[in-house]
Amino acid sequence: MDPLMAVLCLLSLYPASHCPDPGVSVGAVRTGSRFGPGDKVRYRCSSNLVLTGSVERECQDSGVWSGTEPICRQPYSYDFPEDVAPALGTSFSHLLGATNPTQTQKKEDVGRKIQIQRSGHLNLYLLLDASQSVSEEDFEVFKRSASLLVDRIFSFEINVSVAIITFASKPKVIMSVLKDKSRDVTEVVHSLENINYKDHENGTGTNIYQALNSIYIMMNNQMQTLGMNTMAWQEIRHAIILLTDGKSNMGGSPKPAVDSIKEILNINEKRKDYLDIYAIGVGNLDVDWRELNELGSKKDGERHAFILRDTDALSQVFEHMLDVSQLTDTICGVGNMSANASAQERTPWHVTIKPKSHDTCRGALISDQWVLTAAHCFRHVEDHSLWRVIVGDPSSQWGKEFQIEKAVISSEFNVFAKKDQGIPEFYGDDIALLKLAQKVKMSTHARPICLPCTVGANLALRRPPGSTCRDHEKELLNKLSIPAHFVALNGSKLNIHLKTGSEWTSCIQAVSQDKVTFPNLTDVREVVTDQFLCSGTQEDDNACKGESGGSVFLVRRFRFFQVGLVSWGLYSPCSSADKNLRKKAPRGRIPPPRDFHINLFRLQPWLRQHLEGILNFLPL
Ligand SMILES: *[C@@H]1O[C@H](CO)[C@@H](O)[C@H](O)[C@H]1NC(C)=O
Ligand SMILES: *[C@@H]1O[C@H](CO)[C@@H](O)[C@H](O)[C@H]1NC(C)=O
Ligand SMILES: *[C@@H]1O[C@H](CO)[C@@H](O)[C@H](O)[C@H]1NC(C)=O
Ligand SMILES: *[C@@H]1O[C@H](CO)[C@@H](O)[C@H](O)[C@H]1NC(C)=O
Ligand SMILES: *[C@@H]1O[C@H](CO)[C@@H](O)[C@H](O)[C@H]1NC(C)=O
Ligand SMILES: *[C@@H]1O[C@H](CO)[C@@H](O)[C@H](O)[C@H]1NC(C)=O
Ligand SMILES: [Mg+2]
Repeated sequence: MDPLMAVLCLLSLYPASHCPDPGVSVGAVRTGSRFGPGDKVRYRCSSNLVLTGSVERECQDSGVWSGTEPICRQPYSYDFPEDVAPALGTSFSHLLGATNPTQTQKKEDVGRKIQIQRSGHLNLYLLLDASQSVSEEDFEVFKRSASLLVDRIFSFEINVSVAIITFASKPKVIMSVLKDKSRDVTEVVHSLENINYKDHENGTGTNIYQALNSIYIMMNNQMQTLGMNTMAWQEIRHAIILLTDGKSNMGGSPKPAVDSIKEILNINEKRKDYLDIYAIGVGNLDVDWRELNELGSKKDGERHAFILRDTDALSQVFEHMLDVSQLTDTICGVGNMSANASAQERTPWHVTIKPKSHDTCRGALISDQWVLTAAHCFRHVEDHSLWRVIVGDPSSQWGKEFQIEKAVISSEFNVFAKKDQGIPEFYGDDIALLKLAQKVKMSTHARPICLPCTVGANLALRRPPGSTCRDHEKELLNKLSIPAHFVALNGSKLNIHLKTGSEWTSCIQAVSQDKVTFPNLTDVREVVTDQFLCSGTQEDDNACKGESGGSVFLVRRFRFFQVGLVSWGLYSPCSSADKNLRKKAPRGRIPPPRDFHINLFRLQPWLRQHLEGILNFLPL
């Protein structure tokens, strides 16, 4: 319980003779229109919405309505991010001003999101509740959550400024959008890490009004600096994220602050994308938000607490708060991180290749017109005119078919190169590039992956401009066992570990146990040269035949990097025609299951030779 609550209840803003109009929130119906002392109003919800807050409120002698403002909601339990996400768009909808309260929400309003786009500028305001009802431990979760949101927002390489404000009885501005530092992810994260819960030890109430008002003041300062009628000011989009338990108990309703914010931003029908407000409770706070709503203060505005288990759940929800459909340039390695997104949205670079009448291989977009794949896919086919590449497309679940203008298959690739050494098939230089007949339109379903050692990948890794290919290799293949992925036939992202150093050496030893394929082998490195990455140990998934050519990739800073491509292996988990069925190798199988992937760091000369002018490469 925040100590200041009792004091504040005495300080009514309204004359004692009557109560202010209690309003009607979206989806609710009110009966009773007299607002004098002793008068009662009743509420119910239209259709199948659930009412939380008070069903009946009475105008008290103090001029304050009893109870809490009722709100009508979808009957969700807010434990699962999938359920919370659609509701977030409307969390502050009544504060933002619904025009017709009795009308149920229009579809497009429900899905309101933070627009991620190249033009304009985004101001992200993070408000962290440090009041007494939020424990220091909860506050640490808020800090981690905020860092995560910041990291994700900066991953799109958009122009963004982040404000950080902590608050209890009073707000404290830690970082203002007026500071240059607010545009620098490292500075912002550093500031977040250093904020101190104890800053608010002498005023531990919860004043959400003041917190929001401090944003209004910041906006006003920025408007003065930039000039009210300038594009620089008018093209800024604003997103406010309140991390709180929602138990506001001071300062009255946050609504006037939100109204001021709306006014200064000139929010109207045309400009409604320019402001978004979210309130999120994350961590070990009270889980039942309905109960929380009842237990909370008797003032307006506390009911917008969305409770999420942990930071993972928050990052899932945050994915759904972002709209990247306007991001249409060739930024690399941007995929949807939500488990609920479609497979193609999660791996939008992934393509299917049909060198014959049916698909037999996979590949990855590395630009808007080039696909990287395996050379062995084209072993038995000559006629390029029949080949097709199927690329993701937001308007069709089957994607879009592209013809091929040019195929560059490594001339070094020769399966029979080592036949005389007792190696019936050899997959060195198993690499090919396909140039599509047209450029692919970039979308949520089609984007290139980042190729290490390029300028695009360097930006994605947020490395300084002078970085080299070696630096990328050191950063991406930085451990003896590196979690990575490839895409299954059915589109699912599967998990593997890429081995380096001594673990690589033991990983490839499995080949020596394959006496059937390699009866006379004396040195496994004749088969698995250093061109190959190795995976398939322990719980790793294994690749199937048709998955050849697909990307082997890893995630850094919310971006995707292709370090290899699926080439060959010792075990195939797919035996039936069912794309959803995979059989793990039995324990103790000889030879043990292993997959070998072309290591793109080792094929740099070839890639540079054929992609000159298409990608900008860093020095080796
Ligand atoms: C997640 O997916 C399910 C089923 O496809 C869908 O019903 C639900 O609305 C999705 N959730 C979000 C937040 O998009
Ligand atoms: C983004 O910011 C940079 C530097 O702050 C500036 O040069 C660039 O013009 C901005 N881009 C947009 C689209 O505002
Ligand atoms: C709280 O008040 C005490 C005593 O006046 C003071 O020493 C301390 O610095 C204050 N803390 C903060 C964060 O202002
Ligand atoms: C992820 O996909 C979901 C579902 O299609 C979509 O609503 C959301 O905007 C996407 N977010 C990002 C960051 O791509
Ligand atoms: C392996 O060596 C034996 C004996 O030297 C030879 O007969 C056999 O053909 C070799 N197998 C292969 C696959 O080269
Ligand atoms: C795709 O296949 C994998 C592996 O067999 C399986 O775990 C997954 O559930 C499948 N996905 C779908 C959407 O069926
Ligand atoms: Mg509090």
